[in-house]
Amino acid sequence: MFDRKPPATDVEAEVIEGLSETRKRLPPKFFYDEAGSKLFESITMLPEYYLTRTELEIFERYLEVMASSIGPGVCVVEYGSGSNLKIRKLLEQVRPLAYVPVDISREHLIDSAVDLAADFPELQIYPTCADFTGAFALPAPVAHLPKVGFFPGSSIGNFQPDDAEAFLAQVRETLGVDARLIIGVDLKKSPEILEAAYNDARGITADFNLNLLTHLAAVLGVQFVPARFRHRAIYNSEIGAVQMFLDVVDTHEVEIGEVQIRFESGESVHTENSFKYEPEEFLRLATRAGFRETGRWTDPQDRFAVFLLEVSA
Ligand code: AVI
Repeated sequence: MFDRKPPATDVEAEVIEGLSETRKRLPPKFFYDEAGSKLFESITMLPEYYLTRTELEIFERYLEVMASSIGPGVCVVEYGSGSNLKIRKLLEQVRPLAYVPVDISREHLIDSAVDLAADFPELQIYPTCADFTGAFALPAPVAHLPKVGFFPGSSIGNFQPDDAEAFLAQVRETLGVDARLIIGVDLKKSPEILEAAYNDARGITADFNLNLLTHLAAVLGVQFVPARFRHRAIYNSEIGAVQMFLDVVDTHEVEIGEVQIRFESGESVHTENSFKYEPEEFLRLATRAGFRETGRWTDPQDRFAVFLLEVSA
């Protein structure tokens, strides 16, 4: 394990800061405790949540073409580690010499590296614990290999567009001049389809959103009561993002550290933006970050796109 020792976040300070704003917000990174990660896993299997399924279909159909365009002898760097189907399919087709999963969770990194090592005995795996949204050094043994970044799932959509651009510029910096990047991007489409994906009939996305409160209540030892909030997700066409909120259903106060936070019935706490892009709009952003397109694959309904980018000269 290459431990880049990401600094521990001051959860209490971040939560107080977000809840003290006129428009209250909570950071989406706190969705992913154990329960939240399981709920997200369930979301990816919902009929309404087309993103994961569609991206997987694109990979199934075009990975061979992607792999031949990438060529042999590379090092795959995955932003956010997964022992999931997508990385396995990619490793099977691309057959890289090395694989560097980068994640903030040491446990998750170890578990998935152990799983993958069993199935890919030839592959050199260098799990790297780091906050991949910032600068971090790649393990020395992969320094000489050309890098292929992998960032699936439209996780790029959870960044504000300016931050997405800064992140891609950072990826380019980390991976070097001969780098390529495979990135999955959810595309703009009708608000009905988008809103259904984040308001599923079984209420799993609602549980996922509300679990943010359960998680923070446990971490901070505070009295958040999920039953006092209701999940809401809408497509904001002005900014091009599905926005998730926790609406307050009855007025109450919660003490966090030294601070008393008042939640008024009718107000809402913003928990997530999930930006959607037109392909050209995403490419403009990637171009500003120093990449150019070398391949693009979509599904027949143009719901989702997988781009292969390379560093522009
Ligand atoms: C992880 N991320 C790409 C998901 C998304 O679609 O923005 C998180 C999610 N939020 C609600 N449902 C899924």
